[in-house]
Amino acid sequence: MSSTAGQVIRCRAAVAWEAGKPLVLEEVEVAPPQAMEVRLKILFTSLCHTDVYFWEAKGQTPLFPRIFGHEAGGIVESVGEGVTDLKPGDHVLPVFTGECKECRHCKSEESNMCDLLRINTDRGVMLNDGKSRFSIRGQPIYHFVGTSTFSEYTVAHVGSVAKINPAAPLDKVCVLSCGISTGLGATLNVAKPKKGSTVAIFGLGAVGLAAAEGARIAGASRIIGVDLNSKRFDEAKKFGITEFVNPKDHEKPVQEVIAEMTGGGVDRSVECTGNINAMISAFECVHDGWGVAVLVGVPNKDDAFKTHPVNLLNERTLKGTFFGNYKPRSDLPSVVEKYMNKELELEKFITHSVPFSEINKAFEYMLQGDGLRCIIRMDA
Ligand SMILES: NC(=O)c1ccc[n+]([C@@H]2O[C@H](COP(=O)([O-])OP(=O)(O)OC[C@H]3O[C@@H](n4cnc5c(N)ncnc54)[C@H](O)[C@@H]3O)[C@@H](O)[C@H]2O)c1
Ligand SMILES: [Zn+2]
Ligand SMILES: [Zn+2]
Repeated sequence: MSSTAGQVIRCRAAVAWEAGKPLVLEEVEVAPPQAMEVRLKILFTSLCHTDVYFWEAKGQTPLFPRIFGHEAGGIVESVGEGVTDLKPGDHVLPVFTGECKECRHCKSEESNMCDLLRINTDRGVMLNDGKSRFSIRGQPIYHFVGTSTFSEYTVAHVGSVAKINPAAPLDKVCVLSCGISTGLGATLNVAKPKKGSTVAIFGLGAVGLAAAEGARIAGASRIIGVDLNSKRFDEAKKFGITEFVNPKDHEKPVQEVIAEMTGGGVDRSVECTGNINAMISAFECVHDGWGVAVLVGVPNKDDAFKTHPVNLLNERTLKGTFFGNYKPRSDLPSVVEKYMNKELELEKFITHSVPFSEINKAFEYMLQGDGLRCIIRMDA
């Protein structure tokens, strides 16, 4: 038992008081974990675009004050009643979409959409009592996707926490807790390109480049990268992308450009932008007869997907995925092992690093489309 078990912990957290305003480092109180919950000491966290959308709250439901953050690595500090799978000292990755291991989805081989713990971006409280574990001078601060990793300590449901190899460096494998696993799994588990096939990747941030990495591993012969930001193309060369298309360089819609480049369309496409028009283009650029498009980007809450139904009748398939269809507790430890066995490189996704006190810089880098992942070091 740690000396802090059962007690309120006071620690630093980066609080978003208002939409789009810089986070403020505050001393917060973190209550002990309740039944089926664990309290984690976060050591490293990084910023994913999903945090930025909900912080900006331009196309999403605003919920403030809130502690964001969902891509992270840490150590279990203490566990609540009924927790048998985790113990203090375990090395873990929290995940925004959980796995209870008991519901129909968790028991299905095909789904990671757990009935109890699937992603819910509008809930800001814990399931056990409908309350927050964070407070400042008695004022509750909302959680984000069950993880809230922009805090030195956080509380999560045990089903949202994957136990990993303690030898894995948390400052690297933390990026597997969302973006890199999502992109990799979107290609390998959902798009499933055959050897020699052509794949288009829309959006060349960390998620899209991880999807490209999946295409390379699957043996794709051509990987076409699509982004509006040409700065991305240099970095993307390290990820096996063979050709680049900037939709801004063309008069005609990008799906037509891709159809011309590929004799009718790509075999697979993976959309990692969050932009509704890119989602439609990613679908319409796959070849008729067999093409499969996978949506990964998080849309605005009022977006609607519009395409002519004949695009589907012509035997194209449209799919979508959270977390690359990986079940976080069952599958994530083996993704970490891919890194440990050098089958998967993570270093090239990590372009920046800042101390916790400078977390707002990570937001600036992402808003400027500068670099891929920025590691935030909690002890600094
Ligand atoms: N489904 C999931 O489980 C899941 C998990 C993680 C992230 N996401 C989502 O994946 C997306 C990518 O995340 P990220 O962290 O890599 O973001 P990022 O900002 O690093 O990368 C997104 C890239 O998309 C490009 N882009 C934007 N609009 C475009 C358009 N219309 N056409 C072409 N390119 C365009 C941007 O220039 C940028 O390079 C986000 O929408 C994020 O919310 C989804
Ligand atoms: Zn994410
Ligand atoms: Zn479940």
